[in-house]
Amino acid sequence: MTVRTSDIEKAAGVLRAGGLVALPTETVYGLGADAENAAAVARIFQVKGRPPAHPLIVHIGAAEQLDEWVEDVPEAARLLAERFWPGPLTLVLRRGRRVPLEATGGLETVAVRVPDHPVALALLSAFGGGVTAPSANRFGSVSPTTAGHVGAELGEAVDFVLDGGPCEVGVESTIVDVTGDVPSILRPGGVTREDLEAVLGRPVAVPAASRVRVPGQHPSHYAPRARVVLVEPERVVAEAELAQEFGHQVGVFLPPSVADTPVKAHAVVAVPTSMGAYARGLYGFLRELDQRGCDLIVASLPAEEGLGLAIANRLRRAAGPRSSSATGLQEP
Ligand code: TXA
Ligand code: MG
Repeated sequence: MTVRTSDIEKAAGVLRAGGLVALPTETVYGLGADAENAAAVARIFQVKGRPPAHPLIVHIGAAEQLDEWVEDVPEAARLLAERFWPGPLTLVLRRGRRVPLEATGGLETVAVRVPDHPVALALLSAFGGGVTAPSANRFGSVSPTTAGHVGAELGEAVDFVLDGGPCEVGVESTIVDVTGDVPSILRPGGVTREDLEAVLGRPVAVPAASRVRVPGQHPSHYAPRARVVLVEPERVVAEAELAQEFGHQVGVFLPPSVADTPVKAHAVVAVPTSMGAYARGLYGFLRELDQRGCDLIVASLPAEEGLGLAIANRLRRAAGPRSSSATGLQEP
């Protein structure tokens, strides 16, 4: 996928004029605006249908620029930025004066990251400022991992779309709050907990989803149209077939452990063995099953280590409260 220099210049011009640019990052596509233009930032919320209290991430071009956007950078934040930027890590720090409250949902903290994608970095460099960008999807739905997904989600509402090909990581960045005594993962993502702990040399807290009180983290996030039901891996085939018999159009996330089992269902996705490939494909799989007309998706959770932690987090949110049986959901 090639993006011309003239496209980058044009996109930077759109940002300068207060417009919205969809941009590829290594995680998911973002819907970007000039972080310092409160009116442009407000348009992001309008286009996404996102409640204004939900804070955004400010994307910057290099770790060296961090101090321009935040106050009080603790040692742990420096270490993490040095090791993981550019990359799928977002740091929550105290808001610098340059960041309007519109971008932080009124919070005195701000989330910042340096994305690891040549097109995003070229845009940030040409633009010169910070770009606030949430994932380029409508509020609550599945994040886009191709430019085509962005078009399907937001269409004409975006002023310019940079097509940088499919996203390499496929799930959003890991968000780490470094404002407290102990760094804490607010959202698991592309950088694993194990990698964070290795760099910091100490445990990193992962608050249980139910205890996270961060604005913008809702149980119904990342949801396809189809209802998602999570069961144990060895129950996936039986539950899927039962639900299909009850009249559902069932999509199946077939776990690697039962990959050879034939399934009578409407559509089947073979879950990749590699967690990297699973993360890369996850949102595309959910979209595909929606497109194929499934009204119910039966899946199981991967082991919650490495990238599996982020994948399980997204599946749980896509599913809402965990259900032990698909057959409790009989109305098609
Ligand atoms: O990978 C990503 O992070 C993608 C790409 C585009 O960079 N962006 C993304 O943005 O996922 P979004 O808006 O969909 O999710 C950002 C989340 C918010 O939902 C919120 O939970 C958290 O970041 N966040 C932002 N600012 C925060 C703050 N000051 N304190 C705590 N959480 C914050
Ligand atoms: Mg999002």
